Amino acid sequence: MAEKLPIAVLISGSGTNLQSMIDAIAAKKLDATIQVVLSNRADAFGLVRAKNHGIPTELLDHKSFPDREAYDHAVVDLLRARGVQLVALAGFMRLLSPVLVTAFSNRIMNIHPALLPSFPGLHVQKKTLEHGVRFSGCTVHFVNEECDEGPIIIQAVVPVFPDDTEEQLAERILEQEHRIYPRAIQLYAEGRLHVVGRKVMVDGLARDDSQILINPLLDG
Ligand code: GRF
Repeated sequence: MAEKLPIAVLISGSGTNLQSMIDAIAAKKLDATIQVVLSNRADAFGLVRAKNHGIPTELLDHKSFPDREAYDHAVVDLLRARGVQLVALAGFMRLLSPVLVTAFSNRIMNIHPALLPSFPGLHVQKKTLEHGVRFSGCTVHFVNEECDEGPIIIQAVVPVFPDDTEEQLAERILEQEHRIYPRAIQLYAEGRLHVVGRKVMVDGLARDDSQILINPLLDG
């Protein structure tokens, strides 16, 4: 098998996306090794998931640092010491400073629970439902210095229904997050992603022009 891509996963919470990566590695669908799971919160359940699988963990509490830059310097040092090549943000509830973004330029991915550039930031499902869009989904993108703004790698689309609750929509989207995030990392591991301006070109991309979605469904 090809050499495995050394990655870090940065979390603040439940870590279901982390779990999807652990599972994809176990299923041999993702040629990566998780060198470290880093959390800024001691109570992040993702730390338990990592420990359950023998993955090294680090807790870096942002409250112990004077400012964002000092925190990010510590993160960069830690990632470099672990030989990390790609950083996957998975529910890491921190804005990144240029210190971290430039140290790992086009080597940080994030997942966002909407079809960017729609609905960036926080309270995504609330904003999605209030707007009345018929589709939402999730986006894996490279991280640049703006929040939820970097070049898009892969997206999945889900329908939105008028009587959805935020929880139902979040759940529908999360299921797809778990499919596309490991896939995005695998494409990177295979060297198939190339950032050109604000676009990501993907080598050997399969294409299906018939993939059209309509919601509400057409009659007949
Ligand atoms: C996901 O909805 C992701 O899109 C967002 O934060 C949430 C993380 O969930 N960035 P989990 O911790 O991976 O379960």
